[in-house]
Amino acid sequence: GKKLTSFSYLGEEMVGSEVLVRGRVETNRTKSSRLGFLVLRERGLTVQCVATQSEATKVSANMIKYIKQLTKESVVDLIGIVVKPKDEVKGTTQKKVEIQVRKLYCVVRAPSNPPPLLVEDAARSEEESERPVANQDTRLNYRAIDLRTPANQAIFSIRCQVETAFREFLLFNDFVGINTPKLMAGGSEGGSAVFRLDYFGQPACLAQSPQLHKQMAICGGLQRVFEVGPVSRAEKSFTHRHLCEFIGLDVEMEILSHYSEIMDIVDELFVQIFTKLNERCTKELEAVGKQFPFLPLKFLPKTLRLTFAEGIQMLKDAGVEVDPLGDLNTESERKLGQLVLEKYDTEFYMLHRYPSAVRPFYTMPCEDDPRYSNSFDVFIRGEEIISGAQRIHMPEFLEKRAGECGIDLKTIEAYIDSFRYGATPPHGGFGAGLERVVMLFLALDNIRKTSLFPRDPNRLAP
Ligand code: 4AD
Repeated sequence: GKKLTSFSYLGEEMVGSEVLVRGRVETNRTKSSRLGFLVLRERGLTVQCVATQSEATKVSANMIKYIKQLTKESVVDLIGIVVKPKDEVKGTTQKKVEIQVRKLYCVVRAPSNPPPLLVEDAARSEEESERPVANQDTRLNYRAIDLRTPANQAIFSIRCQVETAFREFLLFNDFVGINTPKLMAGGSEGGSAVFRLDYFGQPACLAQSPQLHKQMAICGGLQRVFEVGPVSRAEKSFTHRHLCEFIGLDVEMEILSHYSEIMDIVDELFVQIFTKLNERCTKELEAVGKQFPFLPLKFLPKTLRLTFAEGIQMLKDAGVEVDPLGDLNTESERKLGQLVLEKYDTEFYMLHRYPSAVRPFYTMPCEDDPRYSNSFDVFIRGEEIISGAQRIHMPEFLEKRAGECGIDLKTIEAYIDSFRYGATPPHGGFGAGLERVVMLFLALDNIRKTSLFPRDPNRLAP
């Protein structure tokens, strides 16, 4: 009938009380036949438990033996008294109190030879460092076990906070959360490939983005919408930043007159997300930094905006030639990120007025020069996390642009009809990739680290 106490509640105010805890064995050792130590772990937190054989504690010699033969990672239930340790406890993840063991049960015994993933690279003893470090592929093959490391636990808490802060900001600013279909008749982004499937005999594919439906929601009068949902891309890219499935953070909104209104939302939204992460996730950020050292993201209270032409000029001044009507490649994006950091002291900025030729068919060209468009990308540490734009809301023009871009008009008929019959005000929005945001905020080297069970061209399991 006793209730479990979570490790996060174990504190000095509980000294003297008896608790029941469940944890995994991180370390187990005995000093003599009368004294044993267990360090238990729950999520990223650990607590030391001490078993002393004495009249007062009623712990038997058998219990000390039992502690000795436990295997690492076994799950145990333990009843004991919360005490203040003699020596000061160091570190942020180790609880500041100890537990004097009274009773101990092994719930599930772990095998004595688990894959060598749980040893944090940074925290390995010299003896252990002789063993090969598990590479990322091995870790991902055993992802369920790999997740137990403190850094991984922290990454997924941080990821959840990004999503939560995204929703909080948008709900506070009168956006409505929507869910759009993930089964579609055709692609929505042009260019990038789709996963094809059979839909009761009709060709179909997995949604490449909520683009068309989120715009149709604006057409329907929802005014400001957002979605957090899976996005599928059949791109055979083996890079550190591409997944075949990721979580899209999408926004679409009516605007009064200018696409800068969308950039204003991006600015306030992301400054708030970063600020909340720094406030709410101090322990998690520290846990990630211990395993994957990084410097906190530099961002300004008001996000820097440069035009694409200004960016090109900065690159040119630094000796990098790029096509003024083409796209930036990964390398030039990185380079520009460095130049922006040197000049403006920020690692978070926006680049707008992209050439029309490199944007999807639904993007609104600039009124003064249609070679450019009312669009933007947003960068963290020189890598893209967002692309956004004002959309074409005039049906004939939209149809014309889709045709020019080689889109099969039959697959987007309902979308164009929405504008034809639905008089839709000027609008626009953006899409961010959740995994990319987390990866780049934490300066991680690979997007797979921020996906629970990543999907890439070689990985469909686990
Ligand atoms: O640039 P993308 O393809 O833009 C769209 O999907 C538009 N519908 C957005 C809009 O509202 N205009 O994707 C948007 C973001 C990228 O900036 C990137 O963060 C992420 O989605 N992304 C990926 N993340 C992981 N793996 C991939 N293969 C990704 N492709 C895009």
